[in-house]
Amino acid sequence: MKPLKRGRGSHFGPLALAGERMEGIGFVCSSAATRTTTATKRMSTAAGMKAEAAPRKTVLVTGVSRGLGRALSLELARRGHAVIGCARSPDKVQALQHELMAVSLDASSSSSSSSASPPSKHLIIDLDVRSDSGVQALAKLLMETKRLPDIIVNNAGTINKNNKIWEVPAEEFDMVMDTNVKGISNIIRHFLPLMIQRKNGIIVNMSSGWGRSAAAEVAPYCASKWAVEGLTKSVAKELPPGLAIVALSPGVINTDMLVSCFGSSASLYQTPETWAPNAATMILNLTTEDNGASLTV
Ligand SMILES: NC(=O)c1ccc[n+]([C@@H]2O[C@H](COP(=O)([O-])OP(=O)(O)OC[C@H]3O[C@@H](n4cnc5c(N)ncnc54)[C@H](OP(=O)(O)O)[C@@H]3O)[C@@H](O)[C@H]2O)c1
Repeated sequence: MKPLKRGRGSHFGPLALAGERMEGIGFVCSSAATRTTTATKRMSTAAGMKAEAAPRKTVLVTGVSRGLGRALSLELARRGHAVIGCARSPDKVQALQHELMAVSLDASSSSSSSSASPPSKHLIIDLDVRSDSGVQALAKLLMETKRLPDIIVNNAGTINKNNKIWEVPAEEFDMVMDTNVKGISNIIRHFLPLMIQRKNGIIVNMSSGWGRSAAAEVAPYCASKWAVEGLTKSVAKELPPGLAIVALSPGVINTDMLVSCFGSSASLYQTPETWAPNAATMILNLTTEDNGASLTV
């Protein structure tokens, strides 16, 4: 399936495009590429409800200024979990920090229990995941303040402008690989040893249907997401008991990234806000049995 060729005419009307993509290529992975896991089974057994009662977790989500990362962060805060987040837009980072605190205050004041815990502490910072030293400083800060994440969601990502590979400038290719692959690697480099020391932790690497299939004009992005799948499966073999790492394809969601590759037909897809509750439930229910899996939510 080709991405929409905006400005140069598309082979497909929006509905045909949507139907074709939903059948298995594009951002949606085929069922053969996804195995049913303990996490997906747990989701179908009212695990969503149990997530509300589960102990509070600290979740590090990268790329929280908009799209999936932002919606997921708000959903986690609504459920009482503490969110550590990062992105490169200082204004949006600051706004989300306030919004998360307000969500947590609301959640705790509307609780009927007199023994309700205080609102979770969130920390949203301006950080570029491409910066190894920046990620190292965050890990040190969280270690020192005893806020090491129980779960890390490596969500920050970028896509190249639709283009044949020979028309993609070298800097743009680098940007996609540096963010989508090396950004995850930076997080793993500095957080995994701390999780290993603590003997538990779950790492979720945001993949894509295009990490399991391919499309024209998004070769840098496809290459980066296939790399995410490979990196995940390789690291899974290095983990000691108590830890797990998975690749998660989020499906097709109407975000800025989708608009970049699908154009106006992005509006045919679900919003990050409708996606987030299912994603949060799945992520919160991952266990070490899921180690190395390629999942889809
Ligand atoms: N939307 C979909 O249908 C879809 C499908 C498959 C996979 N995905 C994956 O899901 C993830 C989220 O996608 P999305 O659709 O929500 O994208 P999006 O709307 O473009 O948001 C991307 C987020 O990543 C952040 N980011 C980008 N580069 C960063 C960097 N170097 N350091 C820190 N943060 C950075 C952005 O914030 P700043 O610009 O403020 O830094 C933004 O918050 C990505 O990994 C994407 O590949 C999405």
